[in-house]
Amino acid sequence: MPDKIQIEITTRCNFDCFYCAGRHMPQKDMPLDLAYSIIDKHVRPGMEVNLQGEGEPVLAKHFWSIVQRVHEKGGLPYIITNAGYTITPQMAENFIQYFNKVHVSLDTTDPERAEKTGRHNIHRVMDNILKFGDLLGKENVGIVIVSIGRKDIESVINFATRNGIKNVSAQSLQTKDDYMIKYKLDYKEDYHLKCPYLERDIMRYFNVEGIELPCCFIKDTTQYVSAQKLREQMHKGIVPQSCKGCRFIRNQETKKVIVRTS
Ligand SMILES: C[S@@+](CC[C@H](N)C(=O)[O-])C[C@H]1O[C@@H](n2cnc3c(N)ncnc32)[C@H](O)[C@@H]1O
Ligand code: SF4
Ligand code: SF4
Repeated sequence: MPDKIQIEITTRCNFDCFYCAGRHMPQKDMPLDLAYSIIDKHVRPGMEVNLQGEGEPVLAKHFWSIVQRVHEKGGLPYIITNAGYTITPQMAENFIQYFNKVHVSLDTTDPERAEKTGRHNIHRVMDNILKFGDLLGKENVGIVIVSIGRKDIESVINFATRNGIKNVSAQSLQTKDDYMIKYKLDYKEDYHLKCPYLERDIMRYFNVEGIELPCCFIKDTTQYVSAQKLREQMHKGIVPQSCKGCRFIRNQETKKVIVRTS
């Protein structure tokens, strides 16, 4: 088992980002007993346990019970969150107790652009980024940008720089068919077929149904058999249906760009 696991504890969300595959999936929470059984079976001391999938993890009904279970097993709970909620004093205490770090998604600081994207009340999100900084230390809070425009990225970097947040990363929109429901990006069907997730066995992803996957990008699991089958197909030069369009196996892939703000 790799050092990282990711569990999709909910597909529900209070935002409706145009690029989110989760908005087209059944809206539900992972049953608590399923979450516990995954944690009990797979979490080892020191393991990072990422609790988000295509939903907002903090809104999951059993979020804190799940976080606590991870903690009891010695795992390190981690989330990317939209921060579009009120952080109550109790939540603040819990974040301090259980989380070493969090990442918050912010694509732009322009309220109108954010609203159009489906990220609402962006001022609250930015206030919460600063609040997470106060709770966990600025060095333990990061910002994740999905690139919707150059000026938007710049606006987020300026916000981060002004507020002493150094950990900012930007990534392009996924080009897999699973994601391109409300947007379309042209990409070249030119594959090298060397998937880091398969070759280096980076992580395990458990979707909201509890299906175990080698990465978080296979949303349509109807064609999926196993990670081994994907490897075998790629070794034969075949693009597996479950991986079609994935930026990790294409030439000219759009890499995740780490942006330094100082
Ligand atoms: C699916 S969200 C779940 C966590 C939380 N709801 C949030 O938005 O931060 C996790 C990350 O995936 C990013 N994401 C969602 N859809 C994407 C897409 N089509 N292409 C690239 N990144 C995407 C989001 O912007 C976010 O940073
Ligand atoms: S906030 Fe996260 S889960 Fe919610 S719609 Fe946006 S990307 Fe999807
Ligand atoms: S979807 Fe992409 S990251 Fe996942 S196994 Fe296929 S090629 Fe690799």
